[in-house]
Amino acid sequence: MPPRLPLNTVRNILQLGQKTRTMSSQPSVYVTRPDVDASGLELLRKSCQVSTWSEPLPVPRAELIRQIAGKDALYCALTDKIDKEVLDAAGSQLKCVSTISVGYEHIDVEECKKRGIRVGYTPDVLTDATAELTVALLLATNRRLFEANKQVFNGGWKSWAPMWMCGQGLKGSRVGLLGFGRIGQEIAARILPFKPAEITYTTRSPRPQEAAAVNARHVDFEEMLRNSDFIVACCALTPQTKEIFNAAAFQKMKSNCIFINTARGGVVDQTALYDALKTNTIQAAGLDVTTPEPLPLDDPLLKLENVVILPHIGSADIETRKEMSRITARNILAALAGEKMDAEVVL
Ligand code: DGY
Repeated sequence: MPPRLPLNTVRNILQLGQKTRTMSSQPSVYVTRPDVDASGLELLRKSCQVSTWSEPLPVPRAELIRQIAGKDALYCALTDKIDKEVLDAAGSQLKCVSTISVGYEHIDVEECKKRGIRVGYTPDVLTDATAELTVALLLATNRRLFEANKQVFNGGWKSWAPMWMCGQGLKGSRVGLLGFGRIGQEIAARILPFKPAEITYTTRSPRPQEAAAVNARHVDFEEMLRNSDFIVACCALTPQTKEIFNAAAFQKMKSNCIFINTARGGVVDQTALYDALKTNTIQAAGLDVTTPEPLPLDDPLLKLENVVILPHIGSADIETRKEMSRITARNILAALAGEKMDAEVVL
């Protein structure tokens, strides 16, 4: 059962509609996907005119630009680029852009702020799901699960063999995290029971309290690169982290290093990663995110054995995605009512 909206929120939205329109009209919301969990759409439909893109695929840009004209709010996803052109097409009545994601690099937030458009997102709710998936990907990569599974089907499994399909355990290893926000901390907490020798993290400023909870040590990027057996990217994509994992970074990593990315494809120079994997400069990589997404079927990364690639499913836990849909809707309703949003991007 989707949670009910507080009565005063519904009342404020209705009042807003009355002030700005005829009695019968309601605020209009465009939703860029028809396949978000229905509970979010139901919340919106109680007090708004909702229209959605018809296909379970990202809305074509021209269609988005056409549909957003005159709308009061936009419910979008990380596959929709919300820039000046889209905001211009919307018109000055647009009050809110709400994304069903924790990442908001696809939205020109500064431009939204300039225009008084509030931006909603979905942090926290997906922290556990993403941390869980990160550890699953790490274990699938270091213990070579997909490579081994293939052998079962292709006849490569001849008999039990002492050194066949061996991988590098987490026990006694050094794990470095780039990023130590909510997701990074939860990844660390889940890795701890595997008894690593040390967990380190790299952030602009140390976070001693949070680090103490998971016995993590703050190190600079250089030290993380040189000393880690596992490196996990769990940072936001910003101008500072864009392609931070480049050829120079891979050169500094240990040859047994396993690189995991559940952040954004953009934090990696993917050609450099391919070269590092191909030449065994590093041991392996596990990627939930790539550039572009989806990865073309002829991408050279897909020819390598030492990489595990998932189709951006970090937060794809059923309850998590349902709640993300509701939060995205509640953010819109709150913005339309001039109230506090569940989660608003503040610059
Ligand atoms: C996000 O929310 O930003 C994730 O990458 C997808 O859920």
